[in-house]
Amino acid sequence: MPTPARHAVARALHGVFGAGHRVAEHWDVGLSHADAIFAQALLGACLRRWGRLQAYVKPKLKEPSRSLPLGSQVALAMGLAQLAWMDGVAAHAAVNESVELMCEPSLGFAPHQGLVNAILRRAAEKGPVLKADLDRLPAALDRTAFVDRVLQAALAPHQVHQGQPSSVEIEALWTKLQAPPRPAFRVLRGAAPAELEGDSELPGCWKLQEGAPFPGEWLRSGAGMVQDRSSQALMAFAWEGRPVDVLDACAAPGGKTTALGLRFPEARITAVEREPKRAERLEQNLAGRGVQAQVVVAEVADFLAHSSGSFDLIFLDAPCSGSGTLQKHPEMPWIGGHIDLGRLGELQRDLLRAAIPKLAPGGLLIYAVCSWLPEEGEYHRAWVRTAHPELVPAKVWPAGWGVEPGPTSCFRPHPLSWDGEGFQASAWTRP
Ligand SMILES: C[S@@+](CC[C@H](N)C(=O)[O-])C[C@H]1O[C@@H](n2cnc3c(N)ncnc32)[C@H](O)[C@@H]1O
Repeated sequence: MPTPARHAVARALHGVFGAGHRVAEHWDVGLSHADAIFAQALLGACLRRWGRLQAYVKPKLKEPSRSLPLGSQVALAMGLAQLAWMDGVAAHAAVNESVELMCEPSLGFAPHQGLVNAILRRAAEKGPVLKADLDRLPAALDRTAFVDRVLQAALAPHQVHQGQPSSVEIEALWTKLQAPPRPAFRVLRGAAPAELEGDSELPGCWKLQEGAPFPGEWLRSGAGMVQDRSSQALMAFAWEGRPVDVLDACAAPGGKTTALGLRFPEARITAVEREPKRAERLEQNLAGRGVQAQVVVAEVADFLAHSSGSFDLIFLDAPCSGSGTLQKHPEMPWIGGHIDLGRLGELQRDLLRAAIPKLAPGGLLIYAVCSWLPEEGEYHRAWVRTAHPELVPAKVWPAGWGVEPGPTSCFRPHPLSWDGEGFQASAWTRP
């Protein structure tokens, strides 16, 4: 029987490559701490090197042009990844457990048990040469058309006169995004645990020290939360307003609602979330962190259409492709091509259309997406400029966090020098 950790990794890989799904947030729930660490490393290695792993196998097949059933691809990738990159995994365990996976009706392909066994045994005999062979395969094998589009989009606005980014910059960005990200945290109560160190560029942001264990216990106590560095920077917007009514339009799981609640403790915060299960989690998170907010389960456009008041601060963290999260979500390269960007763009525009009329005079509206693609950010900004000339861009982020020199109304740090997810955000006020 394969271990629960290997089972979980195989299920996640089937979800990505079989069904085109993202890896679910709690895909490793139920695993022990040590198993979860192993499973995360193995899943990351398989996803980040899927193209190379499959290319390594092809010439070893009798008919290299025929594609293998997914069960065989998954078992081979998992076996090879463990042999090549996972220190401390015994070669016989990497081989045998991958072969055993082939007997699982929903995960394997039993007729290929012998084939998987033979390829992995030969690979195991290579020892450290296997890693060198895999590393020598072209890195471009792990780069899909979606990735190429995202890398171009990430770099293009930072080119002088918006020219094409060079291949050197594109390679450098891809290399950067292929490394597992270093988690960032926010301290909510008390002192930061010893495993964390302060971020010198971003006050209030804490990063895991190199090689330190993940502070799971501390997070479970509610004294802190994980929050990507870009989200923290975004929420550090400079604004003198003292809002009475604040709307977090797309709120779950509540990272940004928490930041709003801590910054504006006197304000009435309404946090709207469409998905009931996510709204439940939002409520639990806010309660655990001592943040006061009214959680409303609704489509925010419907909610706004039926509400008579206006808001002094509207934060719209819209649903998006997540193209800025390639580093945290290594499955994105393989499923990004199925994302309907046209539909997402319309949805984002509808959310802006619903939110803008509810912005009170003197109020601030921030629109954000964790995406580098222009149709999810730049194009909406151009639309606001023509459709709502009454709104004035608000330079709420410091020099260096945008594209143009000086303070900026458009948060979009340079992806090569910025440590954090890819975000685009825009801020406007209604004078
Ligand atoms: C990008 S996430 C928000 C992350 C959140 N702001 C945070 O920092 O933790 C977008 C959220 O909006 C919700 N959502 C999507 N469309 C919505 C809509 N029309 N009305 C309300 N919520 C929506 C999604 O279910 C998802 O939970």
